Amino acid sequence: MATSFGSELIRISEDMDVVRARAEARRLAGTLGFGLGDQTRLATAVSELSRNVLLYAGHGQCEINDISTATDIGIRIVFEDNGPGIADIAKALQDGYSTSGGLGAGLPGTRRLMDSFAIESQPGLTRVDIALQRRRGR
Ligand SMILES: Nc1ncnc2c1ncn2[C@@H]1O[C@H](COP(=O)(O)OP(=O)(O)O)[C@@H](O)[C@H]1O
Ligand SMILES: [Mg+2]
Repeated sequence: MATSFGSELIRISEDMDVVRARAEARRLAGTLGFGLGDQTRLATAVSELSRNVLLYAGHGQCEINDISTATDIGIRIVFEDNGPGIADIAKALQDGYSTSGGLGAGLPGTRRLMDSFAIESQPGLTRVDIALQRRRGR
């Protein structure tokens, strides 16, 4: 039986927080009734986006929300930081684009894994909002 959890806030300021956020996203998705594949999708997305918060902004937060309805199970995760912002969002969403010598796969990969994906960014506030939804009982 699925359990709802409302909302959970995780602060991100060190490596261990990324690990914790990843594990927590997987766990909460499991409690809502998401299958293993979706749990892994969410864990991967949370790992990438928390890592970005840490790497590019130094610290920030990740809020995991239960957005389940009568017909769907749903999870929405919002990442926020007060770092320098993403200078060019269109470029940042391209495969292989990285300003840190990374793989440049975090944002575009996460976008493909999720049902919805939105970025707002300006100097001092970056928000990445992702969600996954599935029909109940399928
Ligand atoms: N929270 C953030 N704040 C500022 N810039 C960011 C943030 N997240 C991503 N970026 C920018 O977007 C680029 C692409 O991110 P990503 O796809 O995760 O690749 P990578 O982290 O490997 O560079 C980063 O190189 C960085 O310039
Ligand atoms: Mg990244």
